[in-house]
Amino acid sequence: MVAEKHKLLACSWTTVAQRYDQELVPRFKPYTQRLLSLFLQRPLPTGPVYVPACGPGHELVLLGEALPGRQLFGVDLAAGMVELADQKLAQAGLRLRSELAVGDACSVPGACRPAAGMFSCFSLQQMPQPAAVLAAWAAALAPGGVLAVAYWPPAAAPPDARWRALTDPATLAKAVAAAPASCAHAHVLVDEAPAFDMHFDSAAAFFGVDTCRTAASAAPQALGQQHMAELRRLRDQYTLM
Ligand SMILES: C[S@@+](CC[C@H](N)C(=O)[O-])C[C@H]1O[C@@H](n2cnc3c(N)ncnc32)[C@H](O)[C@@H]1O
Repeated sequence: MVAEKHKLLACSWTTVAQRYDQELVPRFKPYTQRLLSLFLQRPLPTGPVYVPACGPGHELVLLGEALPGRQLFGVDLAAGMVELADQKLAQAGLRLRSELAVGDACSVPGACRPAAGMFSCFSLQQMPQPAAVLAAWAAALAPGGVLAVAYWPPAAAPPDARWRALTDPATLAKAVAAAPASCAHAHVLVDEAPAFDMHFDSAAAFFGVDTCRTAASAAPQALGQQHMAELRRLRDQYTLM
């Protein structure tokens, strides 16, 4: 069952990789940059930097430029994402000090342990057991290592809240709240609410862009076109409300 789900996720993220890179990476940029500035606030110990669910590789390039000489390690479930990351790293001249792998990033690869740092932007909400994953990542850090995590922000205000409520990860928030118990050896350095609004002009615009995201892009394959047509009908009805 897990293998089947991974196959579906990998396939759907590969399908949307180019579009994700073009449309959502720029939209997420303020979050990526804020997380990066927090991550870089203290000196890292010796060791590689791990980027779980690295997507199309823009974070790897930013990290490589900010941390000269540092070994980078990116893992993503989707071969299409890893292919884009490979191209970006090569273009930035960072290929020689980076490693990429297609696979499940819920755990940390042996070659990357202990990690000096880990950078996870909008990937933890993808993991089925976020609290356990957070604990596994924290346990693979070198002493003094830093783990930076950003997860999908809740809707700020109406009208976004009306449709964003359908996808907000309340269950993830609960899981993360429970995580400190299993990360007892780690200290929380900063915990801040997202400062940037994630606004979509309409339910239709959200639905369209959301097809770049896993749940919706996997949905046509998992649920069938008829189900998707019904979702679109509801979306249009909802837009008119
Ligand atoms: C929203 S994107 C985030 C990508 C990137 N970190 C960013 O900030 O743009 C989510 C990524 O998680 C990957 N992903 C989902 N589940 C995964 C898993 N279990 N292991 C590795 N990658 C996973 C997807 O393939 C996709 O590239």
